[in-house]
Amino acid sequence: MNIFQKYQKALSNEERQALSFCTQVADDMGIKIYLVGGIVRDILINREFNDIDILVEDDAVLFGDILTKKFAKNIEILARNDKFKTLKIKFTIGTKNFEADLASTRSEVYEYPSALPILAETGVVLKKDIKRRDFTVNALAMSLNSKDFCQIYDETENGLNDIENGLIRILHPDSFMDDPSRIVRGLKYRAKLNFSLEETTEILQEQCLKSDKYTNDCQDRIKKEVKETLNLLLPYCFNRFVSENIYKLIISQTSKKDIPNGNLVCKIIDGCKNFIDTENIWLIFLCMIFNFAPFELVGNNTEKLALKRKEQAIITDFFLLKSELELLQNAKTNYDIYEILNKYSPEAVVANLCLTKETELADKYYLYINKLKDIKLSVSGEDIEKFGIENGIIYKEILNGTLKEKLNNNLSQAEEKSVFKNLCALAKNKTEDLIN
Ligand code: CTP
Repeated sequence: MNIFQKYQKALSNEERQALSFCTQVADDMGIKIYLVGGIVRDILINREFNDIDILVEDDAVLFGDILTKKFAKNIEILARNDKFKTLKIKFTIGTKNFEADLASTRSEVYEYPSALPILAETGVVLKKDIKRRDFTVNALAMSLNSKDFCQIYDETENGLNDIENGLIRILHPDSFMDDPSRIVRGLKYRAKLNFSLEETTEILQEQCLKSDKYTNDCQDRIKKEVKETLNLLLPYCFNRFVSENIYKLIISQTSKKDIPNGNLVCKIIDGCKNFIDTENIWLIFLCMIFNFAPFELVGNNTEKLALKRKEQAIITDFFLLKSELELLQNAKTNYDIYEILNKYSPEAVVANLCLTKETELADKYYLYINKLKDIKLSVSGEDIEKFGIENGIIYKEILNGTLKEKLNNNLSQAEEKSVFKNLCALAKNKTEDLIN
């Protein structure tokens, strides 16, 4: 299949029509435009692409303004950045809506290792823009101008070969030091595309992970990539994250040999997918690493990661539940198990389950996850009120008492109501006795 055929196969009729609008305007303006990055890579390897990224070898904002004026019925500007000269636009073609990013070619500089890149110049020639990118396979551009439509521009000279040979190769020796989050991106692409690291890239990755020159400035980017990569829930990602020391981007020290294997962890998480928020899978994997790291390091490092409150709560819950393991081991009844586990976030429960070596303990986690956590009371505080009992701590005692009986004795709804009524009557008698 030639490249034009691949392009036709990868894009829908509507997407191709939208891009033909871009072609017309760019040709009229006499400027070069390209598809760039992931979309080109994915078209070439016959893989579904994520986003439409259009690179304008000039001013993308000016291009976008002219484009939206000419095709006002089909194109709308969603966002614009006048400093970076980028635009997000929405196409409406027939009944279909889809977005695209327009970016001006630009050059960037890193003031020091892992700093946020600073914009140097916009509207630069394609080759200069390509230099700031991460991997050769992400650095290909495909012309959208009519005179060389679909021609591939392989400015690094390795992109096409590396796609052919399945290799992830950085563009220059400082790439990982400039932006260590690229190490995690490399792992993500290896897993998603089934590619491997090119030899020199592998050595440079090792060197970067050994050095402590990078600062915390790129923790946001690292967090984003680690989340995306580990959330893929692939044993390969977690096993390599550990074996290649990529975890060092998050925590400098842990006892690697004790960390459970990715196959096991993925299997357990997969079995608990309905119980957890799948956006938080990466935090379960991080708990596996934090569990074998010096405790004082965990606090410092999660702080650097700037976790959201809910994310931080998962890590904290993981350690709190771990400190209650003996209690869980000794738990005899369903209610005892429920009372311990129900206090913690589901992801913290699953993380502890992943580390459990005892079958009896694992059974308790599964009993909670698969059954107990879904058992809910059919009565509430409002029903207690109907008995004329004054609101207070007694409400909690009645509801907990009913739940305890329900969990421990598998009560039917009628049985539950009867237990509840008895508890309410007892409580009412007690308060009346106190008054008299
Ligand atoms: N990029 C980079 N360094 C990063 C992140 C991104 O050099 N830390 C560059 C890459 O060359 C990438 C482009 O910015 O092609 C856009 O990044 P992103 O949107 O993450 O990737 P896509 O190209 O859209 O590819 P995909 O979504 O398929 O991963």
